[in-house]
Amino acid sequence: MSAYLNGQFLPLAEAKISALDRGFVFGDGIYELVPVYSKKPFRLDEHLRRLQGSLDGIRLDNPHGMAEWRDLILRLIELQDFADQSLYIQVTRGTPIQGQPPRDHAFPRGVPPTVFMFSQPLATAPPEQKAAGVCAVTAADNRWLRCNIKAISLLPNILLRQQAVDADCAETVMLRDGFLTEGAASNIFVVKDGVLLAPPPSSLMLAGITYDVVLELADTLGIPRQVRAISEAEVRAADELWMTSSTKEIMAIVKLDGAPVGAGVPGPLAQRMDALYQTFKHQVMRA
Ligand code: PDD
Repeated sequence: MSAYLNGQFLPLAEAKISALDRGFVFGDGIYELVPVYSKKPFRLDEHLRRLQGSLDGIRLDNPHGMAEWRDLILRLIELQDFADQSLYIQVTRGTPIQGQPPRDHAFPRGVPPTVFMFSQPLATAPPEQKAAGVCAVTAADNRWLRCNIKAISLLPNILLRQQAVDADCAETVMLRDGFLTEGAASNIFVVKDGVLLAPPPSSLMLAGITYDVVLELADTLGIPRQVRAISEAEVRAADELWMTSSTKEIMAIVKLDGAPVGAGVPGPLAQRMDALYQTFKHQVMRA
């Protein structure tokens, strides 16, 4: 597996950074995850725009222009000997230099950011899992108030996701002040009476690239949809509940906190949307 670190392509096992890197010491950095199908990155411009938004959010200058990023990413994709990839990009505030305190909360001056990328085989959900759906649990969203930044400091998300793992489930659906925010590592959609409902992008959630694709597909196909605040009661009374992300794509949640969602099997709209998503993906890849 090949990686990229600060200007160099190298085997992943050889990518090494200082223990004083601010990503390691403070979790001071941001990331992106780009799905790659048949060696073609999916919605790369959108991912790079979100990367820029995250960098702006933490006041870190973008070390590369769009064209430069694209070139580095395409080169990294080509170096892998597998076609479908999950490409991880991380940018941190770098490592303090000689004469600077090794650890100081304040931004270090004149330090280049650390840019790290690697790619691993993309593990999308197996068809059996898609057909069966998954279970989820709910939890209070106790993260910070800037969840629109794709920060590498993921401790709250990890602890929340582990609650699902401990319950043998796939995801934790988060609620803040009685309203749906998102999943620990996904966006959540609700279907009620044939209408697709999605929470509005805000600083309380990460607007997923998959989330945008799903809404676009709904519009293209005339599936009624509303982007609005969704109450906990609506989540619990949903006909269908979906989780979406670059790696999970569209996955039906069929059980929530032990109670069946709707009929307790993947609903007709989830199946339709997943089929549309697969077709769209392949069309884009062929273009
Ligand atoms: N996470 N919300 C959160 C908190 C996420 O971590 C993710 C994705 C999403 C969905 O975003 P997208 O559709 O752009 O993948 C929403 C990635 C997959 C991860 O952390 O591995």
